[in-house]
Amino acid sequence: MAEPRPVLEMTGIGKEFPGVRALSDVDLRLFPGEVHALIGENGAGKSTLIKVLTGVHRPDSGTVRIEGQPVRITGTPQARQAGISTVYQEVNLCPNLSIAENICIGREPRRRGVIRWKQVRRRAGELLARVGLDLDVTAPLGSCSLAVQQLVAIVRALDVSAKVLILDEPTSSLDRGEVERLFTVMRRLKDEGVAILFVSHFLDQIYEICDRMTVLRNGRLVGEYLTAELSRIDLVQRMIGKELHELEELHDHDRPPVGPPLLEARGAGRGGAVAPFDLTVHEGEVVGLAGLLGSGRTEIARLVFGADPADSGSIAVGGQTVPLRSPRVAISRGIAFCSENRRAEGLVPELTVRDNIILALQAARGWARPLPAARREELVATYIRTLGIRPADPDMPVGNLSGGNQQKVLLARWLITEPRLLILDEPTRGIDIGAKAEIQKLVVSLSEQGMGVLFISAEIEEVLRLSHKIEVLRDRQVVAELAVGKDLTAGRVMETIAGGAGR
Ligand SMILES: Nc1ncnc2c1ncn2[C@@H]1O[C@H](COP(=O)(O)OP(=O)(O)OP(=O)(O)O)[C@@H](O)[C@H]1O
Ligand SMILES: [Mg+2]
Repeated sequence: MAEPRPVLEMTGIGKEFPGVRALSDVDLRLFPGEVHALIGENGAGKSTLIKVLTGVHRPDSGTVRIEGQPVRITGTPQARQAGISTVYQEVNLCPNLSIAENICIGREPRRRGVIRWKQVRRRAGELLARVGLDLDVTAPLGSCSLAVQQLVAIVRALDVSAKVLILDEPTSSLDRGEVERLFTVMRRLKDEGVAILFVSHFLDQIYEICDRMTVLRNGRLVGEYLTAELSRIDLVQRMIGKELHELEELHDHDRPPVGPPLLEARGAGRGGAVAPFDLTVHEGEVVGLAGLLGSGRTEIARLVFGADPADSGSIAVGGQTVPLRSPRVAISRGIAFCSENRRAEGLVPELTVRDNIILALQAARGWARPLPAARREELVATYIRTLGIRPADPDMPVGNLSGGNQQKVLLARWLITEPRLLILDEPTRGIDIGAKAEIQKLVVSLSEQGMGVLFISAEIEEVLRLSHKIEVLRDRQVVAELAVGKDLTAGRVMETIAGGAGR
């Protein structure tokens, strides 16, 4: 049987930014009714290739064909007209508008120029039902979790007759159930003949949902493969361009003994956010927080950091009771919080890598006492090197970095303040496997130097590998504290999260 014709074909795509060759001679083809993975390390060029396809970037060379016809895509409207819908890596919706408005914005049903709100709400409800979401469409989007916001972005993208649907890391903030829901929708669309381009750093998900994949490395095409014909090991080796054994693995490490208590929360809680809990973090101790998305992990982090302060109980830092009323107080006590939401709570895209890294340290010193330039450059260079931030250019605006590299800049910002207690909320989300191993090693070595770490991650294996003990959360309550040892398996942690084995 002859191969069906690709719905989309990109050939010889090249794109250069000042000083960075993001893409050279890249080919990509998508067939109707397939889920196609676009894979590569942070900075490999995935998002750039997608932005060429959606008209955000003009390619320097190469052609794009839709159903055999060459097209010039110069902007989002043209892309949509050509049947290409996209959900970008950094969700860009309006938090103040309602869910319904976010879904229908720009193409609201109107009569004589007047927006028909009742229809807007009904239409939004229908589209959400298509992905199995039952939400109050009049609620402001900003009041929803990041995961729900992500799903809303996808629903918005679906609201046209798309031939090609592009999802750039759609699952990085979704929990298992939500991923399943998304996959169900993807399978349905695939059956309808839509070609889906799927970007993800989760190999499990790629192998579960994708038929074929295209691998990029350093802006170049490595190859196109059928998922069924390429083993995971081979895939990883193609991604990193090295044999796997060259990649340093974090082996089961002996956890060094911990020091005196650093943070002691007794009956601390916050109405509506998290039920009163006890928590002790010792010097040199890594405490993992495990639980489903929305179980209260981030709420505990925000409470300890004073961002949403406790309204009951007490918290002591270094043996002294302190009212952690605001981040300012927390920072002055040596607490740092690297948040999961790098856009909203973190990085300033227009500022350089240097300025973004230096921000928290400078704020803590006070703006009247600028860091001496030599010291500043040395610190920035050290962290760019340690975390492997690419490109290694302190003058680059952070908005130009790839998603994973932005995450590293945020981490550098907090490490540079040399906190006593570091709160990491999903620090490895959206980060490729090489950089992930680096960050994990860094956490271990920081704790060996006496730093206390509160480590939040949706990946249980990762929490298990790094932590001395794990606090398990369910329904905004700490339900168990598990000591990490030989007999604690990921399965046990999972059971505790779920509230018992079976069913
Ligand atoms: N607007 C821009 N200006 C300058 N350089 C850019 C710009 N956008 C991307 N780059 C650079 O192009 C390269 C490819 O970045 P891209 O965002 O495509 O990577 P990615 O594969 O999506 O990575 P990640 O997995 O981290 O999201 C990187 O070196 C990045 O710094
Ligand atoms: Mg990207």
